[in-house]
Amino acid sequence: MKKDLLSIEDLTQVEIVSLLESTRALKAQRGPVRDLQGKSLGMIFQKPSTRTAVSFAVAMYELGGLPLFLNAQDLQLKRGESLGDTAKTLSRYLSGIMIRANKHSEVEELAKHATLPVINGLTDKEHPCQVLGDLFTILEVFKLKDPRQLKNYRVAYVGDGNNVAQSWMLAAGLLGMELVVCSPEGYLPEKEFIARASAVCGKSGGKVLYEKDPKTAVAGAAVIYTDVWASMGKDEEHDRRKQVFSSYQVNETLLQNAGKNAVVMHCLPAHRGEEITDGVMDGPRSVVFDQAENRLHVQKAVLLQYLKK
Ligand code: CP
Ligand code: NVA
Repeated sequence: MKKDLLSIEDLTQVEIVSLLESTRALKAQRGPVRDLQGKSLGMIFQKPSTRTAVSFAVAMYELGGLPLFLNAQDLQLKRGESLGDTAKTLSRYLSGIMIRANKHSEVEELAKHATLPVINGLTDKEHPCQVLGDLFTILEVFKLKDPRQLKNYRVAYVGDGNNVAQSWMLAAGLLGMELVVCSPEGYLPEKEFIARASAVCGKSGGKVLYEKDPKTAVAGAAVIYTDVWASMGKDEEHDRRKQVFSSYQVNETLLQNAGKNAVVMHCLPAHRGEEITDGVMDGPRSVVFDQAENRLHVQKAVLLQYLKK
């Protein structure tokens, strides 16, 4: 296991399977355990968060450890202290750091100087903990006994080729799944991730495909996944994106093109009425709040894996 979880690709297929199995056991026996007693997690936020912040904090609490909220605005980072010096200092106090940052490169810089594990709680490029929770949700929804069975599943990601999509591409590749990314021209994932996904698929037999037409993308998919059209940091592009993405909405009509048993996922927060309708979000195929809950259980597995020494 690498010291840090910065990208989903920091994990091997075997490590992902093991985290998902451990998540299953932790969810089944939910309740306070003391496995991280005496451990502390610094949680640095450069951007807002509801799920990541609360699920990591409650996970630490239920494991007997201390979660420490560190708003980046309140740290000396804001007054120019370097990431390196911050990492070296925090390494003297804490057992691990979870960071939500604007730039992925800043998280890499922090991890380089930290002697403790650094966990990515979302950057502009990736959201690995989200995708681990998503994978666990798919296991649960389809009652899969073995996480390796995920390789039989086709996921259609409809929307912006953003951080969540990019982690999903690598995860699908690592697990040998089939992922169709359906984004409008100009909003595909970055070339670097397209190349990395193709490389991991080459080893696993997985497929990451790109499709312009949402109806074609969702045909035969077990999961239809979407996310906001304008991620944090892209707020000023919101109006323009609303126009560009208007035919990429996950709505009742699009769902008619998917299989009867297909479920709908969204990492949340949602912009209801934009990328997803109220009817779909609150409808019988939506598993979005199970997905949100599972962030807690998967984060416990991650924390135990990285912090329990
Ligand atoms: N999905 C997710 O990471 O949500 P938050 O932004 O609320 O943490
Ligand atoms: N793509 C979204 C995910 C939020 C959890 C964003 O970066 O804002």
